[in-house]
Amino acid sequence: MSFTKLISTLALLCVAPLASAMTMPMNMTMPMNMSMTGASICPTGNISVKAALPDAMIKQNFASDLWEQSPTYIGLSVGTQNYTCTEAGAWGPAGAITYLYDISCLPVMHHKPFTSFIAGLWDNTPPVVTNWDLVDLTEKISPGVALGIHYWIPDPNNATSGKIFAKWDFSQAERFRNDTHADHAFVVSSESNILPDPINPVVNSQWLEEPVLLVNGQKDGELADVVVRFNSNGGSAPTTACTPGADLQVKSTLNFWFYGGHWAETIM
Ligand SMILES: *[C@@H]1O[C@H](CO)[C@@H](O)[C@H](O)[C@H]1NC(C)=O
Ligand SMILES: *[C@@H]1O[C@H](CO)[C@@H](O)[C@H](O)[C@H]1NC(C)=O
Ligand SMILES: *[C@@H]1O[C@H](CO)[C@@H](O)[C@H](O)[C@H]1NC(C)=O
Ligand SMILES: *[C@@H]1O[C@H](CO)[C@@H](O)[C@H](O)[C@H]1NC(C)=O
Ligand SMILES: *[C@@H]1O[C@H](CO)[C@@H](O)[C@H](O)[C@H]1NC(C)=O
Ligand SMILES: *[C@@H]1O[C@H](CO)[C@@H](O)[C@H](O)[C@H]1NC(C)=O
Repeated sequence: MSFTKLISTLALLCVAPLASAMTMPMNMTMPMNMSMTGASICPTGNISVKAALPDAMIKQNFASDLWEQSPTYIGLSVGTQNYTCTEAGAWGPAGAITYLYDISCLPVMHHKPFTSFIAGLWDNTPPVVTNWDLVDLTEKISPGVALGIHYWIPDPNNATSGKIFAKWDFSQAERFRNDTHADHAFVVSSESNILPDPINPVVNSQWLEEPVLLVNGQKDGELADVVVRFNSNGGSAPTTACTPGADLQVKSTLNFWFYGGHWAETIM
């Protein structure tokens, strides 16, 4: 039941741009290139991430270098974070598989409660439903709000470092399929400005900025120059001991905001 509710709620997001268009003054017609291209569904021009942050994070200057900038995409991420048990018997990060939905049409004040609401539905979905089911079903019904998939890849700069890096890939989303440049619609990032979740740092993953990774001096992907991760629900591994080599998936629902990136400007 929860999975059906989750999918219907995510599909309802498609109606948000319609609702937003209906409340727009009639003389403010939507530019033709807005809905057809890889741009965000609703305009993000005057939106600041500062308006989406709680005071506790503003006091710590979280993402303050972006407060004066507008995001390129505003995403809701639903999926799992992976962990493997280290030799020392503690859970260590091993990537993630999540799907991203465009929530640019929801007023910013609703992002946090909406993200928590979706987290509740996803957390109550029985374990037989995997994040791959979510990805498959989203791509099958291909709602216009589907942006793409988030996963992790081995270190592009050093095959033997054993490190992994976050990647977001919008190249398969239905909305962007016809774009001749769609294969550039990805970004690989590192992490900076890491802060504990202000509400429940044990259960919820850290908030962070993820600047694009440089490979041979070039940005690894054109989707964004920096991604911000916040409003975490779940995602952290338990602090209990584990059996070395064991795997664990922890459900994670949060927001990713994307800044800059050359790709959105190149869309045909
Ligand atoms: C739209 O119409 C309203 C009322 O007629 C007017 O005040 C406003 O300036 C118009 N906006 C634009 C963008 O033309
Ligand atoms: C739409 O096209 C106009 C003119 O080419 C451009 O100024 C504007 O930034 C574009 N808007 C979006 C959302 O891409
Ligand atoms: C952003 O806000 C400024 C000042 O309030 C306004 O002049 C401008 O038209 C707005 N831009 C967009 C894209 O809404
Ligand atoms: C993480 O878990 C998923 C299954 O949910 C799996 O398909 C994936 O390969 C795992 N590994 C990484 C690095 O994400
Ligand atoms: C790649 O990673 C390995 C293992 O950490 C390290 O020994 C090596 O120096 C690294 N190579 C480069 C070019 O950084
Ligand atoms: C992609 O192109 C096909 C064929 O021209 C068209 O039917 C479809 O609506 C286009 N899709 C998008 C998302 O623009």
